[in-house]
Amino acid sequence: MNETVLVVDFGAQYAQLIARRVREAHVYSEIVPSSITADDVREKAPAAIILSGGPKSVYAVPAPSLDPAIYDLGVPILGICYGAQLMAQQLGGEVANTGVGEYGRTMLSRQGPSLLMSEWPAQTTAWMSHGDAIASAPRGFVVTASSPEAPVAVMEDVERRLYATQFHPEVAHTERGQELLSSFLHHIAGIPPAWTNTSIIEDQVTAIRQQVGGEKVLCALSGGVDSAVAAALVTKAVGTQLTCVFVDTGLMRKNEGEQIEETFARQFGVDLVHVKAQDRFFDALAGVTDPEAKRKIIGELFIREFETVARDLAEGDEGPKFLVQGTLYPDVIESGSGHAANIKSHHNVGGLPEDLSFELVEPLRLLFKDEVRRIGEELGLPAEIVWRQPFPGPGLGVRIVGEVTRERAEILRNADYVVVDEIKKAGLYRELWQSFAVLPAVRTVGVMGDGRTYAYPIIIRAVTSDDAMTADWARLPYDVIESIANRLIREVEGVNRVALDVTSKPPGTIEWE
Ligand code: XMP
Repeated sequence: MNETVLVVDFGAQYAQLIARRVREAHVYSEIVPSSITADDVREKAPAAIILSGGPKSVYAVPAPSLDPAIYDLGVPILGICYGAQLMAQQLGGEVANTGVGEYGRTMLSRQGPSLLMSEWPAQTTAWMSHGDAIASAPRGFVVTASSPEAPVAVMEDVERRLYATQFHPEVAHTERGQELLSSFLHHIAGIPPAWTNTSIIEDQVTAIRQQVGGEKVLCALSGGVDSAVAAALVTKAVGTQLTCVFVDTGLMRKNEGEQIEETFARQFGVDLVHVKAQDRFFDALAGVTDPEAKRKIIGELFIREFETVARDLAEGDEGPKFLVQGTLYPDVIESGSGHAANIKSHHNVGGLPEDLSFELVEPLRLLFKDEVRRIGEELGLPAEIVWRQPFPGPGLGVRIVGEVTRERAEILRNADYVVVDEIKKAGLYRELWQSFAVLPAVRTVGVMGDGRTYAYPIIIRAVTSDDAMTADWARLPYDVIESIANRLIREVEGVNRVALDVTSKPPGTIEWE
């Protein structure tokens, strides 16, 4: 296993970003709560520690603190923003509430030699966000940079291997931020850049083999990135023991089933059970218009379909004992305990049945989404799968307002294909969090040729977002909207009008139901 950097979380979103930046420097990082003790740290034997920023002032009551014995362990530590002020305060320096903070791009001036900023010019811009400032550094530290409102913008104690920056090196607006992190990790802490796609894959393959031994493994493929990459890793580890199940609900995107067959059955040679359950889903959804009722029906039916396959495979005593889940690191952190043992219901259609009692295989639980995509590419998954935008478990069902029928699902699937195709041609697909079509439950009058039409409008929904908790409607260029609209009306039978959704989240949700 790679050498680990612990990122101590002092709140807000800073720790995750730092952890990701550390990994971009090819060093494995783990987020830990600020309640961690020196004994815990000793046990984890990290190669370095980074203290994150946080939303509080060190003078707030209560303000998160750090077990001071951690400073004496001899492990190199970098404090950032709140982490820097805490280090200053705990080691006998002075943190003052100056009344004038710095927010945003700030000019940083170097002072004398520095291990953190060895190659830096005399002046550079750095991203600041602080109210308090370190007024004097603790004994043993040398101040190596300052800014207009932060006399101690960077301080370094080479002997005790303690370093601190008032600014945020993890933020892209800090010109040389990644370079500073690399200096700290590689030169000061001496950690080799060994966390690479290859090493991630090798580690996981070994871990999967160890966990499952000679037993059989089951994996539900959804068409999404996470389940596909998880399945690809398990294929590499124990391919002949794996059975993948893909339940086609009739509410998938265009060509999704074919693509999964092509990749997993033909290219990877995996045992794939492709359940063509469309008829059963449409029958169950007939006449249902309430959004929650639709979700429930889709979720429950999905479980039943999956269960049937699992039970068939379990006939005799040779059935699968393990179930693959595409749990990611942010889910593990958010669950708090560090053990996301529960199957996430939101990411599967309604969750999987408990009484099937599988042991979980979670080969992505240490990884961030961008790492998942990179190793997906390395494992040979096609770009269409690896870079696919998120898609809800109930599929097109939550984008068809009103009754879900075969015909309406077909209209929406074709419309969705056109929207995505034009977005891809415009080079916007990876920038957008999601971009898709919505089918409302109204029809409108139009004219085409000499005739009057009475058909459905399609609503274009495109949003930017970091995590789907909030989202902004995407300002698509007019010419892209125009080509989407032209093609929707020309190519998709049953559509005669196009509208654009300009609602952000909140107050709207990303999906329509
Ligand atoms: P909303 O519509 O709540 O969606 O703003 C936030 C994100 O979650 C996705 N989504 C779902 N994903 N099962 C899922 O696996 C669901 O039932 C579901 N509903 C919404 C949605 O696509 C967006 O990315």
